[in-house]
Amino acid sequence: MDKKPYYITTPIYYPSNKLHIGNAYCTVITDILARYKRMRGYDVMFLTGTDDHGVNIEERAKAAGISPKEFVDNIICGENGIIDLWKMMNISYDRIIRTTDEYHVESIKRIFKAMHDNGDIYKGTYKGMYCTPCESFWTESQLAEGNCPDCGREVKEAQEEAYFFRQSKYAEKILELYKDQPDFLQPQSRMNEMINNFLKPGLEDVCVSRTTFSWGVPVDFDPGHVVYVWVDALNNYITALGYENNEHNDFDRYWPCDVHIVGKEIVRFHSILWPAMLMSIGVPLPKKVFGHGWLLFDGEKMSKSRGNVIDPIVLVERYGADAVRFFLAREYTFGTDGNFNNELLITKINSDLSNDIGNLVSRTVSMVDKYFAGTLQEEQESSSDMDTELISAASNLHELYETHMENFAVQNALAEIFKVTSRANKYIDETTPWILAKDESNKTRLAAVLYNLLEVIRICTVLLTPVMPEACEKILVQIGIAQLEDAAGLSFYDSVQSFGLMPKTITVSKGEIIFPRFDVAEELKALGEVNQE
Ligand code: ME8
Ligand code: MG
Repeated sequence: MDKKPYYITTPIYYPSNKLHIGNAYCTVITDILARYKRMRGYDVMFLTGTDDHGVNIEERAKAAGISPKEFVDNIICGENGIIDLWKMMNISYDRIIRTTDEYHVESIKRIFKAMHDNGDIYKGTYKGMYCTPCESFWTESQLAEGNCPDCGREVKEAQEEAYFFRQSKYAEKILELYKDQPDFLQPQSRMNEMINNFLKPGLEDVCVSRTTFSWGVPVDFDPGHVVYVWVDALNNYITALGYENNEHNDFDRYWPCDVHIVGKEIVRFHSILWPAMLMSIGVPLPKKVFGHGWLLFDGEKMSKSRGNVIDPIVLVERYGADAVRFFLAREYTFGTDGNFNNELLITKINSDLSNDIGNLVSRTVSMVDKYFAGTLQEEQESSSDMDTELISAASNLHELYETHMENFAVQNALAEIFKVTSRANKYIDETTPWILAKDESNKTRLAAVLYNLLEVIRICTVLLTPVMPEACEKILVQIGIAQLEDAAGLSFYDSVQSFGLMPKTITVSKGEIIFPRFDVAEELKALGEVNQE
């Protein structure tokens, strides 16, 4: 196998409740990046999973009167659970891990023991403030007006015998890592935050075992202690590849990870605790951590425990996975916060999908159908001034797209594509095919205009495939590419680098409207009713 490996991960989700659109955001963008890399010929390993342990889940299961395992099984594998959601959203993960998977549990025991044996884990007494919903310990100075600095909720004083990880020992090494590898943590602002808020003030050791609850990986050499959820959770990225277990055996192929995609509130764990633990067990560090922003609702973080959530299943059922994926990728800058609202979603579907690319495809295909009975003629006449600008915009598109995609700026890559589709719609207005069609002597010119439009659509559609896999397949059918003998040749990534690859006598196939328009007022009413259920 000579394909280059590429390992990309999402966080593993807490199955404490149904996932919301904010969780889906993280996974959708990761999926788009994974599909993009596959399209470019990489051997991609896209990992996602669930973080099944912790006191929070233990308490919720107790309240529901079922065992913690039953509780998480329902949320993960039950109807409309996490696995169903990923299916509905076309998430193309290559592997999914649960921290309750036996191989993972056994690996965690061994990893914990290894850190204990090398002296990095020692026994002490823990005194501090604990935020139960976030599963996080805080020192007094880190609290925000006495509350959890992440979620703003009440913290409780906690004291117990516990094991500690010598994170403090690694502070200097982590600062060095940031210096040697300035793009280890992106966006850049997140690195400054880590340095100023955590590393410079002095890194503390971390409490890595608990005795007050039992839903976790037991410390096998000290009964009564369970491993701290973050030690359990972070190591999923290596146990899933077979580190310290025989369930999988591709650790050598995919590690070190190319990028961990995570939300900003867990950047701290991924860029300090995680490298420190890896240094402790002698495993190379991941190449990059990317910390994205939050989807807000009325200016507040959407979160399972706050209950201000938008259900992605409702949206996918109404608008389709492609439209929801597109909206998440197009509307928000990956790296900063953004406000979610239903009106924005529907307006964006109408303006970008229905009016812009949808209209371009249906106008073009209809005209080929009407003026050439579906098949373009060989004789075509290009007109240099009118065509050059459009052709050069389409030919240069892939370079701009690549630059943005390689920088995790999916929104900018999409903006470039939509500049070209808008340009193409304008080209239709400029070349006025309906006037050309009135005079037989303009047939060669008319054929060239429609051919150029089909080529632009082809290039844009291939580049949009990672974002909207299903709709793009339908577009390739409508513009006749999918039916060609060398269809693959024209839908592969390499083909976007050349304009004019399609046979001149391409046959289109008029079909259903790919992106229907929605009535904003009606939709808002319907969504309001759905959400109140
Ligand atoms: O943190 N907007 O799990 P989690 C954008 N189990 N992203 C959001 C979001 C929002 N409103 N709300 C949540 C955990 N997320 C741990 C991870 S990894 C070893 C362990 C994102 O279910 C959040 O930022 O609370 C995180 O990246 C992901 O959803 C999972 O959050
Ligand atoms: Mg969270």
